[in-house]
Amino acid sequence: MRGSNEFLVRAPTLEDGARIWRIAADSGVLDTNSSYAYLLWCRDFADTSAVVEIDGKVGGFVIGYLRPQQPGTFFVWQVAVDETYRGRGLGGAMLDSLMDGLAGQGVSTLETTVSPDNAASTAMFAALARRRGALLTARPLFDPGHFPDGHEPEHLFRIATAIDQEVGR
Ligand SMILES: CC(C)(COP(=O)(O)OP(=O)(O)OC[C@H]1O[C@@H](n2cnc3c(N)ncnc32)[C@H](O)[C@@H]1OP(=O)(O)O)[C@@H](O)C(=O)NCCC(=O)NCCS
Repeated sequence: MRGSNEFLVRAPTLEDGARIWRIAADSGVLDTNSSYAYLLWCRDFADTSAVVEIDGKVGGFVIGYLRPQQPGTFFVWQVAVDETYRGRGLGGAMLDSLMDGLAGQGVSTLETTVSPDNAASTAMFAALARRRGALLTARPLFDPGHFPDGHEPEHLFRIATAIDQEVGR
């Protein structure tokens, strides 16, 4: 998909793994996973992940998976946009592109976790829910006691269409 300010959302390849790792590390917010983990994601979960190209380089990424026990639910593990390109709709465009693409596989619910103090992430997922006419619900999932390292709590955001809410998927 090419946006109005000339960006392209596409599936990641192995060649994107190092850049994804760098964007995650530079975000100052995300847990930086090993470079190996991002390469593995590019190999095995490319269908549920995305990068955005802008100015001839990768400017952001989403990595996610379909929940094994709920394959109609797309779980977003991490999303980040290089600081230079934030506020231009790239984060939202990657998520829309993935949800549009996965709809054909019966996926209509998105889950992710967000730290309570992450205003940008909260706003991005709230905007996604509004655009898609879906309901966003939030509840605690991982509290500091679950983590061994003083990690912040993580709240589960669930963005579901009316049909999903009715059947409780
Ligand atoms: C969160 C993040 C990916 C958003 O990417 P982005 O490309 O700047 O977001 P978008 O431009 O698509 O904005 C989507 C919506 O969020 C809003 N938003 C984005 N950043 C915001 C901020 N800092 N404060 C308030 N609202 C914000 C936008 O206004 C937009 O809402 P709208 O459609 O109602 O206008 C980016 O800020 C980032 O990489 N942050 C660091 C990593 C991170 O926190 N990832 C999420 C972890 S759960």
